[in-house]
Amino acid sequence: MNTDTPARRSFPPAGPALRTVSIVGTGAYLPERILTNQELEQLVETSDEWITSRTGIRARRIGRPDQAASDLAAPAARRALEAAGVAPEQVDLIIVASITPDMIFPSTGCFVQHLIGARNAFCMDVQAACSGFLYGLSVAHQYLATGAADTALVIGAEKLSSVVDWQDRQTCVLFGDGAGAAVLQPRGAPRGILSSVLGADGSLSNLLMLPGGGSRHPTSEQTLKDRLHYLKMTGREVFKHAVTHMTQAALDALAKSGLTIDDVDWVVPHQANRRIVEAIGDRLGAPLDKYVLTIEKYGNMSAASVIVALDEAARDGRLKNGDIVLLVAFGGGFTWGAMVLEWYQPT
Ligand code: ACO
Repeated sequence: MNTDTPARRSFPPAGPALRTVSIVGTGAYLPERILTNQELEQLVETSDEWITSRTGIRARRIGRPDQAASDLAAPAARRALEAAGVAPEQVDLIIVASITPDMIFPSTGCFVQHLIGARNAFCMDVQAACSGFLYGLSVAHQYLATGAADTALVIGAEKLSSVVDWQDRQTCVLFGDGAGAAVLQPRGAPRGILSSVLGADGSLSNLLMLPGGGSRHPTSEQTLKDRLHYLKMTGREVFKHAVTHMTQAALDALAKSGLTIDDVDWVVPHQANRRIVEAIGDRLGAPLDKYVLTIEKYGNMSAASVIVALDEAARDGRLKNGDIVLLVAFGGGFTWGAMVLEWYQPT
């Protein structure tokens, strides 16, 4: 009997003949422009001391005016394909997770497909805010585990500088631009993705949203005047829910995989706030040196945060084949997710 509630589903479902799937290559792209806390002091009433002590952020990257999310995603995707030794034509499925898509439609996935020449792929976007990359991984996992596709490219790409209100000190200091990508295949890994848990609570959507520009508040002079085209966040409330749900999602995913936090070599969390990570670390009982952190350099890159951090740890040699990695995220919606995997990079 399936006892999962609609808001908390676990994957993969019980059943025969599912294939083992792993991340066989990762890549990232960060725009060159670095915006420091000192520069933000000139823009809004804030201080390096406030930002650093409250969030752990010292700098963030800002994309060029001519760059949209797909322009950040494409170089990240090329690097991931190169790392995996996979040609663009081999990709069957592209999933882009973003809250800053190039346009409402077509999907950013379609733009990326064209930019990287992945002409055999079908493409979609998933929208789960900062949990988007984990949602995307989980969707791709289903296609690959069941044999419905053989190669998937999952991308988290954000140009948050285009939706941040640069007059609002409560939010503009937090976010940055960047993209990361992962290639998934059912190739040779002993165990690969071990478990995945996703959840959502739509009753709290008002605490973190970008209200303007959709069918609820179509763009008009009034919505522009009311600044509805910018991201809004009730930070303190979001903080509390982020700690609770990320901790629970991590515990659920570990239980599903039959492991405990002591078996985990690396935790790669969504990078919203260093204090959130520390609070989760306390609750899970995992020392902070197990956490891969990029927040100091890049700030909160929403759907790109987890995969950029994962790529960094893969490239600098922290992740070794056989390591147990726990990914965990929380974002607007609210949405949350966690995944446990055994790291495996084919040589
Ligand atoms: N500089 C100086 N002072 C500031 C700034 C700033 N940049 N921003 C706020 N303040 C002030 C406030 O006005 C307030 O002043 P007051 O006490 O006089 O009213 C004071 O600092 C404290 O403000 P809080 O909002 O209570 O500060 P808090 O410690 O909660 O930190 C923060 C705010 C960093 C936003 C924190 O709440 C947080 O990290 N929240 C979670 C963010 C998150 O997890 N987001 C999830 C994903 S994002 C996504 O899905 C897109």
